[in-house]
Amino acid sequence: MAAVRGYATVLLLCVFIAEIAVSAAEVAEGSAARTRGQGRTPNGRRRQQAVTDPNGAVSFVQTARRRRPGAPAQHKSLLSDTLRPTTVERDGRFLSLFTIVQFQNQGCAASSGDNGTCLTSAECSDRGGVASGPCANGYGVCCVFLATCGQSTKENCTYFVNQGYPGPYDGTGSCQLTINKAHPDICQFRLDFDQFNIAGPEPVDHMCNSDQFIVAGGNPAPAICGINNGNHMYIDAGVGNTNPVTLNFVTSGPSFPRNWKVKICQIPCNTIYRAEEGCLQYFTGVSGQIKSYNYDPGAGLQLSKQDYSVCIRMERNFCGIQYTACPDTVCVFNARYISVNNRTHAFSLSGNTQGQNAVSSSTGTLGPNSCNTDWIIIPCATNVGRTGLPACIDRICGGTFNTEISTTPTTVISTVKPFRLTVHTNNVEAPSDVGNRGFCLNYVQQPCTNNLDV
Ligand SMILES: *[C@@H]1O[C@H](CO)[C@@H](O)[C@H](O)[C@H]1NC(C)=O
Ligand SMILES: *[C@@H]1O[C@H](CO)[C@@H](O)[C@H](O)[C@H]1NC(C)=O
Ligand SMILES: *[C@@H]1O[C@H](CO)[C@@H](O)[C@H](O)[C@H]1NC(C)=O
Repeated sequence: MAAVRGYATVLLLCVFIAEIAVSAAEVAEGSAARTRGQGRTPNGRRRQQAVTDPNGAVSFVQTARRRRPGAPAQHKSLLSDTLRPTTVERDGRFLSLFTIVQFQNQGCAASSGDNGTCLTSAECSDRGGVASGPCANGYGVCCVFLATCGQSTKENCTYFVNQGYPGPYDGTGSCQLTINKAHPDICQFRLDFDQFNIAGPEPVDHMCNSDQFIVAGGNPAPAICGINNGNHMYIDAGVGNTNPVTLNFVTSGPSFPRNWKVKICQIPCNTIYRAEEGCLQYFTGVSGQIKSYNYDPGAGLQLSKQDYSVCIRMERNFCGIQYTACPDTVCVFNARYISVNNRTHAFSLSGNTQGQNAVSSSTGTLGPNSCNTDWIIIPCATNVGRTGLPACIDRICGGTFNTEISTTPTTVISTVKPFRLTVHTNNVEAPSDVGNRGFCLNYVQQPCTNNLDV
């Protein structure tokens, strides 16, 4: 405690001495001192400077001229009121000399729970954001950007929300957001579906006919619909100055309480968290869960006309990857999970998988049990523990996750690098494909120290 008070006293003393020094210098220099403007460009804007941190992330350093809340305010009044009466202008300069701070416009945790950007409060309102709690030790505000239909944004981590957010939207039309790069060194946009509830596909061919989410202007992305809370998508924005990317929620058909909140973060080109090229979904970490769009063990339907790659970053010292179908459970109440099916539907890509009867896996591209309509590709996949087999397979489909023809789900391994999984569905389901849900797979990377040769 003594140390803290000591520090505060020293600070006050320094401030006092420095103030005297300044006023002495001022007498000598006259109004010249006034031109020593700090932190502002001639047009009155705050100075911004692009810097690159050791990770290669580009960010902006901002100079704030703001009094630190709390103690210094007392120093100020002590000095100005009791020691020497001063003008407001003098106070301003005095404070700017001693409280100039620099902080980076980095991501911050907003008090709303959203991801914001740390800005000065003036900059936040200038740019149309909403201040949500402090950042940079109170010198900045965590600024959250929300945007809705018909708007455009170039702010990092903007939330695209439905009309009437946070309430639902039950109407038809087209709600479009235009995304511009924050600067030319942005290569990708990561979309996080914090909330994504629009009407699902029609039940015969699983086409997104009434509602759909469409991305235009980036790399081709399939139209999706239904429920996709917690899922994500990467959009390639190209190198340099490119045309904007548009996100569009098209709603039509019967009444439905829709709501969406899509977080759009801008990923600089030379960062380690940039996704590999051509991946619609990108996962990092030794283990994780991959779900097809609109997957849900209770009611979700596999979407037709999908064609994309899911990439998993190879973590250091990991040489293979294993996949297992997720447990077929739903959260009912207070994070309590119950099984909704007598047999797992966590992998149901083709065949009539509606009932409780087991539906076999199908594999490969040739023969009666091959995958020619809807499938996933895991390059050179085999069942774990099955060594010495003549060949591995690539395509897997049917109603059971297995690289051999079987009705028993298994764990599948691949050592092909980079780790990728490709998803393909055509535009027909009925009559041969009924009740397909798509897939939910848990993955675990396998260390190189294991003998992974298959
Ligand atoms: C956008 O925010 C994310 C998350 O905070 C960050 O990783 C990324 O570098 C930011 N992009 C820019 C252009 O600042
Ligand atoms: C977004 O905010 C959450 C919660 O504050 C935090 O855990 C996460 O790391 C943030 N994401 C980014 C990209 O900054
Ligand atoms: C599971 O099997 C039990 C007993 O055979 C049956 O009563 C129940 O309806 C089945 N559950 C479902 C979801 O079909």
